[in-house]
Amino acid sequence: MKVEGTLRVPSDKSISHRAIILGSLAQGETLVRNWLRSADTLATLEIYRALGVEIEELKEDQLLVRGKGLFSFKEPNDILDAKNSGTTARLTLGVLSAQPFFAVLTGDSSLRQRPMLRVVRPLREMGANLDGRGEGKYLPVAVRGGKLSGISFFNQKASAQVKSALILAGLHAQGTTEVKEPYLSRDHTERLLKLYEVPIEVEKGEKGITVRVKGGYQPQGDKEIFVPADPSSASFFVALAVLLPGSELVLKDVLVNPTREGFFRKLKEMGANIEYTNFREVSMEPVADIVARYSPNLKGVEVKPQEIPSLIDELPLLAVVATQAEGKTVIRGAQELRVKESDRIKSTVENLQRIGAKVEELPDGMVVEGKTPLKGGVQIATYGDHRIAMAFTVAGIVAGEFNELDNPSCVAVSYPLFFEDLKKVLRN
Ligand code: S3P
Repeated sequence: MKVEGTLRVPSDKSISHRAIILGSLAQGETLVRNWLRSADTLATLEIYRALGVEIEELKEDQLLVRGKGLFSFKEPNDILDAKNSGTTARLTLGVLSAQPFFAVLTGDSSLRQRPMLRVVRPLREMGANLDGRGEGKYLPVAVRGGKLSGISFFNQKASAQVKSALILAGLHAQGTTEVKEPYLSRDHTERLLKLYEVPIEVEKGEKGITVRVKGGYQPQGDKEIFVPADPSSASFFVALAVLLPGSELVLKDVLVNPTREGFFRKLKEMGANIEYTNFREVSMEPVADIVARYSPNLKGVEVKPQEIPSLIDELPLLAVVATQAEGKTVIRGAQELRVKESDRIKSTVENLQRIGAKVEELPDGMVVEGKTPLKGGVQIATYGDHRIAMAFTVAGIVAGEFNELDNPSCVAVSYPLFFEDLKKVLRN
């Protein structure tokens, strides 16, 4: 088996969520071109509709968001459901904190186990009234929003969801809201705010990055946002091209924002043949076509804690690739993986062991030793986690036989047509 041809994978999930949320807060229309229509982003769409925003799905993956400005939302008349989406939940808690009404946010059984205090605590400090299960640790969380004041917050985990929640709350707050982080986490909220003409200050110092936003600036609508292809979705195909002899694949229009392309950088460091062409800027984001080719001499690498945010969602897949690289790959400082859609350290290690890889679990990562021949046709426990499902589909193809996923449909969270796209580029 090899992969060949050209593919445009679905659009970026992080930017699609933010286009809906910021479009809803803007004064004037936003036309979102190529938005990602997946389970996660549909959860966001439904929540902002329930808050009274008119959002229309047009043909060809276009979305028209008719924003009426800050403080134009209405009290929802039922519980809001973020389903499986951490980004929807955490960013929306930031928005709800500033609204002068009552709202309750919940999610599916996975999201209800994921930590919310990381946003609840600083939002309380800004003056919002939030309560929830385990005193605000878990969803459902009830919010009675109100007048907020800016705070200065140290974002220890470099979480983009926490940073974005506070920036969104800060837009509505009195004074300046400041978020400092040790390393830059994905910065799509900041870039989109620039598109919406909101002054936002980003200061890069020796000890990290500080983002400042002053309350009271109304995001200006009548904008178009082009959403590029999602690098996290492209990664599965880049991995296949690199691992399958004779492969050459072009991935079109991929977001190559430095806070997101860590997986491609790491693969290059391992010795993979990956090139960017047709580099350009679209809606404030760097975009390129990626050419990936079979790369027979991969070497194990070390992933350092400061590199983690830029490839956090690709780590299960990186571990799969590492089984085919000579020597050790060490992933450390990735304890955040334990609180994703599944405990991704456990779900990755457990499934890697099932397929015959040499792997050792660490509290904050794992060590993979290659090169190991993989078993295919193995039963995979996805834990309902889309990225585990796709990473171990890649592993099966590399092994020469598709693995059996217990829940293949969970790919719909970010990539509803993943298996169809695979068929388009796989050749015997
Ligand atoms: C996301 C941020 C990351 C990432 C998630 C999407 C975002 O989470 O893992 O898939 O869109 O802001 P953290 O902010 O928890 O690191």
